Amino acid sequence: MLDEQKQRRLKRITQSIIGLPTLPTVITQLMTLIDSPKTSGRHVAQLISTDQALTAKILKLANSSFYGFPREIATVQHAVVILGFETVKSLGLSVSVLQRFSGPSDNAHFDRQGFWEHSIACGVSAKLLATKLGYRLPGEAFAAGILHDVGKLILNQYFPAEFAQVIERMRTEDLYIGKAEELVLGLTHSEVGSWLAEKWNLPGQLVDAIAYHHAPGRLTRNAELPALIHLADFLCRRERIGDGVGQRLPTLDSAAFQVFGIREEPKAALKRIFGYGEELRREMEKADAFTRLARGEEEPPPPSGEDSDPGEGETPDEDPDPLLTHALPDPPQGRTPGLRP
Ligand SMILES: [Fe+2]
Ligand SMILES: [Fe+2]
Repeated sequence: MLDEQKQRRLKRITQSIIGLPTLPTVITQLMTLIDSPKTSGRHVAQLISTDQALTAKILKLANSSFYGFPREIATVQHAVVILGFETVKSLGLSVSVLQRFSGPSDNAHFDRQGFWEHSIACGVSAKLLATKLGYRLPGEAFAAGILHDVGKLILNQYFPAEFAQVIERMRTEDLYIGKAEELVLGLTHSEVGSWLAEKWNLPGQLVDAIAYHHAPGRLTRNAELPALIHLADFLCRRERIGDGVGQRLPTLDSAAFQVFGIREEPKAALKRIFGYGEELRREMEKADAFTRLARGEEEPPPPSGEDSDPGEGETPDEDPDPLLTHALPDPPQGRTPGLRP
């Protein structure tokens, strides 16, 4: 995947990471279990139930307005039946990573809560676009969106001085983050993130989504998920939800449209994607339970029903990529007809 020089740099950088963040064993086991064709819902529920905190979080989120089930999901087994294996797996993974890196940042240059709002928005946006573009695993798309920029967390946590320099150079030289990372570190957050995902033994399509979310066209096959995350990243940046670090829109890789059979001229196709902005904002309100989790807040005050109350969504700006070199376009106005209503 990476050329030799990069491999060496990545090795040098990652070798200096001591105490690499790990995933809870139950999550690793969950992913293996769900990937096995012989697994039953009962096995999955039994495994999740061995971790009470995870069980509580999964039930809380499964009952939140984000999933919108009219009746209360009272047990993990019920959640597995209602949501399906893939969604439960993605939910468990998302919850674990959010919790692992929740709370405020220790680096003044990096707004971790804004980062999580961006990541959650990208997850919500990916799930939304999955239904619009016909991607068959919206739960997986959600997890991929949550995780796509995880490399930034690693860089911020283990290389705070260098990452501060990256952010500084983006500001002073008007650089896109990938370019600034290359200049300062010789590596990008996509590369570091995909390395971590490999260490965590995440499924290959999630590793690829993290590695190629800024350039899905570099993949010759299985590019759907990276392409989806690429477009989801554009949509939530356009809506200015969260802080993806920096003001510049990423460069658009128009291959992302071709992956989904969209043959329109890229600008027109992107405009259609932006047309889902209002819907994204509505979905974001429902995803407030995730935002609270990222803030390190425990249970919301009165969870006396099936739904959690939609909360206020914050709206800073976004981070960058390679083909669009201009600043963020005007805020969205009105709705554009969807690719799939
Ligand atoms: Fe990114
Ligand atoms: Fe991003």
